[in-house]
Amino acid sequence: MKKRCLVATGGGDCPGLNAVIRAIVKRASKEKNWEIIGSIDAFNGILQDPMEIKTLDLQSVAGIHVRGGTILGTTNKNGPFAWPVQQKDGTWKDEDRSADMLRKLEFLNVQAVINIGGDGSQKISQRLYEMGCNIIGVPKTIDNDLCLTDYTFGFPTAVETATEALDKLVTTAASHNRIFIMEVMGREAGWIALHSAVAGGAEVCLIPEIPYDIEKVKKRISKRIINGRGFVNIVIAEGAFPKEENYQKHTHGAGIQLMNLLKDSGVETDIRVTILGHLQRGGIPIAFDRILATQFGVKAFEMVLKKDFGKMVALRDKKIIAVPIDETIEKYNLVNVNSDLVKTARSIGICFGD
Ligand code: F6P
Repeated sequence: MKKRCLVATGGGDCPGLNAVIRAIVKRASKEKNWEIIGSIDAFNGILQDPMEIKTLDLQSVAGIHVRGGTILGTTNKNGPFAWPVQQKDGTWKDEDRSADMLRKLEFLNVQAVINIGGDGSQKISQRLYEMGCNIIGVPKTIDNDLCLTDYTFGFPTAVETATEALDKLVTTAASHNRIFIMEVMGREAGWIALHSAVAGGAEVCLIPEIPYDIEKVKKRISKRIINGRGFVNIVIAEGAFPKEENYQKHTHGAGIQLMNLLKDSGVETDIRVTILGHLQRGGIPIAFDRILATQFGVKAFEMVLKKDFGKMVALRDKKIIAVPIDETIEKYNLVNVNSDLVKTARSIGICFGD
């Protein structure tokens, strides 16, 4: 019987997931004694009864690298450590079914697992590794907030989508002498906001790493809108928040909150808010993401062959390397507020609200 390697995609989807799956299968097809199977909807496919798994061969992955989403499906609900089980009294309680899942993997002759996912998924990878599972992580998130890798695939495509949207909003803002606020994803880190603000030429960029002062934002606006003429484009990450102590950091509604603050503080110019939301997660991955995802997939399977378990694939200084999963999940990869890109942005007049 061939050895089996199980692949799962977990957490929010992201352009490039299919390119990773295809690369794993293509690389594995060169090894006579291995076959690849996929678990549907992260590890839930294994935990279901009957199990929901899919054989991944060359035919089933042909051409999928250009498709957004994941052919395996994904979820950030349930999983091996929090599986809802109905209790005798009819109520539901989350139970730890990790040991049961490992037994099922043994039964399927799964000798290695590749878990493609972000922070939450890699935390699961680490726990399974500590239980003896032969697991490899592949980093995935449009937010680019995973540590120890220069980039995660999906992030460049999300930046492209956000920049294209900003380009469109700039023309309508200019025509109507309006303030446009574009809210992008990024609960903890302002990577998409920063990159799209520089690429699209926003006047203001607000990110979670720099709590903003509404007066500073107003000042930047007043330089651009004189006697009702002029326009301003603001990019705000969903996790950005005002520095006043009485404002709570929040995950949704950052754009609306900013609009209300501007109006309350006397700004009379018309303001419109556009929330890009899941547009940033969908669609065709750009070439950079397809290439990075392909490199990650090949490397992940080669780590399986080398039994280099408990590690995550990463991109560092143009090299594809393996890093310990436990080190990647210690903290978020946040925007360095003293980085060259932030300095560049400031030099061309982008206001961060500080
Ligand atoms: O972590 C990726 C991400 O896209 C975040 O940027 C965003 O806040 C979140 O997922 C949205 O999650 P959901 O798809 O569950 O609404």
